[in-house]
Amino acid sequence: MDAKQEFLKIYKENITREGAEKLLDYLLNQSDFFTAPASGRRHCSYEGGLVTHSVNVYKRFKNLIKLEYGENYTEKISNESIAIMGLLHDLCKVNTYVVEYRNQKINGEWQQVPFYAHNNLLPYGHGEKSVYIISGFMRLTREEAMGINWHMGSFDARAQGSTDLSEAFTMYPTALLLHSADFHASYIDEK
Ligand SMILES: [Fe+2]
Ligand SMILES: [Fe+2]
Repeated sequence: MDAKQEFLKIYKENITREGAEKLLDYLLNQSDFFTAPASGRRHCSYEGGLVTHSVNVYKRFKNLIKLEYGENYTEKISNESIAIMGLLHDLCKVNTYVVEYRNQKINGEWQQVPFYAHNNLLPYGHGEKSVYIISGFMRLTREEAMGINWHMGSFDARAQGSTDLSEAFTMYPTALLLHSADFHASYIDEK
């Protein structure tokens, strides 16, 4: 099963609240979610990298949840919330990269080489942008919004000079686990 099929299977099996179908239709038909890279140059910077990264983070997140809360983890957090937080945390990256070409000398010959140029159609931050996009289609719980909003942890510029991040992680430990899952996926699964 490729990453797109895996994403669709996890999404349809777990995310069923009002608006979920419209959001999926947006991802499939009005965005580049399934072809976009996860980054311009770093992890998963290839076609389909974003959906691959999203599935990787979902798996890491679910494992961390089980490790922390045990087999009865659904008493703490629903499978729907795990899927929403894992699969959708990086929706901020849709419609953000375009393929452009530059000249590069390879074996003494100039060739046109593709690269991802930054062309952000909705400059609205990172985690907060994902929350904003999702909220246009379906309601997030407070816990889901906190996790997605703060998934960059202390790498988020908003964390500097503010106690919001540490307060959010204290009040919503699943937000910290999502942040860990994101970095495990980026630096271990996708290095
Ligand atoms: Fe991110
Ligand atoms: Fe991510």
